[in-house]
Amino acid sequence: MELHLDRLPRSVELVRDGEGPLFRYVDERLLPHEVSISETRDWQSVIEAIKCLAVRGAPAIGIAGAAAMALWSAYDGKDVEQAAAEIASARPTAVNLRWGVNRALEKSSGIEGDAQTEMLYTLVKLMEAEDEETNRAIGRNGSALIDPGSRILTHCNAGSLATCYFGTALGVVYSAAAEGKVERVYADETRPVGQGARLTAWELAQVGIPVTLICDNMAASLMAAGNVDAVIVGADRIARNGDAANKIGTYGVAILAKEHGIPFYVAAPFSTVDAQLADGSGIVIEQRPAQEVLPEPIDGVDVWNPAFDVTPARYITKIVTEKGAFSPEELEARL
Ligand code: MRU
Repeated sequence: MELHLDRLPRSVELVRDGEGPLFRYVDERLLPHEVSISETRDWQSVIEAIKCLAVRGAPAIGIAGAAAMALWSAYDGKDVEQAAAEIASARPTAVNLRWGVNRALEKSSGIEGDAQTEMLYTLVKLMEAEDEETNRAIGRNGSALIDPGSRILTHCNAGSLATCYFGTALGVVYSAAAEGKVERVYADETRPVGQGARLTAWELAQVGIPVTLICDNMAASLMAAGNVDAVIVGADRIARNGDAANKIGTYGVAILAKEHGIPFYVAAPFSTVDAQLADGSGIVIEQRPAQEVLPEPIDGVDVWNPAFDVTPARYITKIVTEKGAFSPEELEARL
């Protein structure tokens, strides 16, 4: 199978011109109909882009958070603690956002002005390069778990579009496909925002991987029919015991996989592991607006719209990281 990874845009990128740094991102709200690249020099606009899901996916928002700090340094420079707190709290669940902002804070402390901006620009470029390198390592480590002829189910988008480039769960798919081991990927549409339908299906089609879109409520039947050999998803935060938060609906898919004897893999970089949390009960789950579920309100109808759920470690076969693939117990021992 010939892969066309070069057809994928870089999702987030800090560049610079004569005026200074500029944050460039694919506005993912417009996909799959339009590949639109937006640009801003305003750190508060980066927060807005994260909140409205123009920029989304745990690794991508971690880098966007650090890039926002570089823009703050170049064009504002006042009250660093306040700016960092505002950026880090744009979304609460993915620990990568806090991780990215903290890395920028550490680098910028004790320096100011142009030297600080230069330091932060260099840091973000390093983080972008590390992200791709990490994803390629996750891909290699995950590919070793995939059997030839595999039909893989994924939920949400943990692809190139959720990172700087290449992706985590889809990074595993790309590496395994390059070795000729992927027959087909099934993408859950991922209600209510449709990351699977709008992003994963588009991304895989661009690359040239056979992809079939299913509604979320079809996964059980697909598994029962014997059409799924492995499930691979990403994560927004992994607790020390391996409990993993990911897009709402992931937990249900994990239960289905266990019931059908299908391996369930979580692919994520170590920056997604929150070593401060003993288990998933401490993970804050973001609540999103009702309009995502019900665009036209109905009188007397309330909406519950959590953006993520937590899959207990007992449903997870392996957590695939850049340092290797570990069972939840092995991961905890390593931490
Ligand atoms: O709300 P989103 O689109 O940011 O949610 C994204 C996910 O849940 C991804 O699976 C997760 O961030 C991992 S991305 C490599």
